Amino acid sequence: MPSYDVIIIGGGPGGYNGAIRAGQLGLTVACVEKRETLGGTCLNVGCIPSKSLLHASELFELAGKDFAGFGIDVTPTLNLPVMMKQKVDSVGQLTKGVEFLFKKNKVDWIKGAARIAGAGQVEVTDAAGVKTIYEAKSIVIATGSRPTPLPGVDVDQRRIVDSTGALGLPEVPGHLVVIGAGIIGLELGSVWRRLGAKVTVVEFLDHITPGIDSETAKTLQRSLTKQGVTFKLGTKVTAAKTAKTGVDLTLEPAAGGAAESLSADYVLVAIGRQPYTDDLGLDTVGVVPDRRGFIETDHFRTNAPGVFAIGDVTHGPMLAHKAEDEAVACIEIIAGKAGHVNYDIIPGVVYTYPEVATVGKTEEELKAAAVAYKIGKFPFTANSRAKVNHEAEGFVKVLADATTDRILGVHMIGPDVSEMIGEYCVAMEFAASSEDIARTCHPHPTRSEALRQAAMGVEGWTMQA
Ligand code: FAD
Ligand code: NAI
Repeated sequence: MPSYDVIIIGGGPGGYNGAIRAGQLGLTVACVEKRETLGGTCLNVGCIPSKSLLHASELFELAGKDFAGFGIDVTPTLNLPVMMKQKVDSVGQLTKGVEFLFKKNKVDWIKGAARIAGAGQVEVTDAAGVKTIYEAKSIVIATGSRPTPLPGVDVDQRRIVDSTGALGLPEVPGHLVVIGAGIIGLELGSVWRRLGAKVTVVEFLDHITPGIDSETAKTLQRSLTKQGVTFKLGTKVTAAKTAKTGVDLTLEPAAGGAAESLSADYVLVAIGRQPYTDDLGLDTVGVVPDRRGFIETDHFRTNAPGVFAIGDVTHGPMLAHKAEDEAVACIEIIAGKAGHVNYDIIPGVVYTYPEVATVGKTEEELKAAAVAYKIGKFPFTANSRAKVNHEAEGFVKVLADATTDRILGVHMIGPDVSEMIGEYCVAMEFAASSEDIARTCHPHPTRSEALRQAAMGVEGWTMQA
């Protein structure tokens, strides 16, 4: 029977990063992936294709709406097949890159669907239906997540799509209805609005992007509304009837009340994702997922000896970089090292325009925990680089402990803030105070000066105007 130190089930950011780290540490390792390509949800149907379309659609909108303000007159026309092809090309290059890294780090990719077959045993069924049993000292479950279904609104990937379908619509919808004002709904809704669709977002709660600092979320909602997105908050979809050219939806107030109807050319269902553990043989080792389907762990160990779990299939934010950090720490623990993830400093980004980037505690969380805090805030309207680039929307907000000045949370909204949040992650990892950032020289003129000015604002000595 083929035997390994570690077998990882799933080739997404959790699985592939774990496998590469295991190879680097000299462990014999195999990664089982049933998709035809490595990279999991993130590379194939998640982070990467969505960011490709977000970038391309942003360029299209910039060319049509903003170039003229810089004295450049152009009339862009959309070539959707080319836009989709460049997305597929980028995805292909990156998934091939993971395959190359597997070879370089002596990771065996076992192609097929894995099932735990008992302590230390993994059974893999290949595309031809042939089953092989492999032995492993440690098994790491990294099987990820899948879209949460909405009863009454059946995804057919034609007119009613999930995120995967929305990444490859064959045409720009006349009217796209998005169910769920979370990250997927707002990112993919933005893509199609920029390309010309009318977009209506239906959200059950009375606010968008739950979990994000509420002042930041409200600013994002205002901005997206100005861009033409219609929000129906506090509303639920109770039925969907698909016809050949569209979908008729029935909506009701979340709290109950009179129903209304809404017609759409396409409907995107994006109401969250759930852990994926189908046919995994968890029962053979006595692992019982919690009532929402997540595998519970303590430092990545499940209750079954030698069985670990990381990434979307376990608790915590469903983010690629969280899965990646857990993978490295889990493998280091398996190798006898001190693997560690700092869950207080996992950044989150919404890649809309403007972008939202956050790390650490929100104001709401600090209030609920009765932590006394100070706020420093700086608007991009007062930042010279943002001004000359005609991109002065948004702000940076720093929350610092009122007594110690330690940075507790940072919330930004503005163009490219995804590229700036890392500075605060590093600072927080080193337990920085807001004064540490306030007294650090930043280059001028850059948007990063707004990071410093917000920190200076904590002690009330913001200078730039
Ligand atoms: P996955 O990436 O889901 O990988 C799991 C893999 O396991 C899959 O390839 C699956 O085929 C395989 N598998 C499952 N069961 C078996 C089995 N029994 N045998 C063999 N193989 C199996 N996160 C971010 O941080 N930034 C973003 O910008 C971002 N954008 C996203 C956009 C979209 C549209 C979506 C849907 C998600 C996005 N995410 C983003 C979330 C991110 O994709 C996930 O958090 C990340 O992929 C989780 O990694 P994972 O390794 O846990 O699981
Ligand atoms: P989400 O949890 O971000 O948002 C789902 C939204 O749907 C919430 O606002 C929720 O209140 C709403 N909702 C739930 N049930 C509903 C109903 N019946 N009717 C109307 N609204 C309803 O989930 P989403 O957007 O599907 O994304 C899943 C996960 O994927 C995210 O939580 C995130 O972890 C990951 N992701 C990350 C990205 C990033 O980092 N930029 C991009 C895309 C996805």
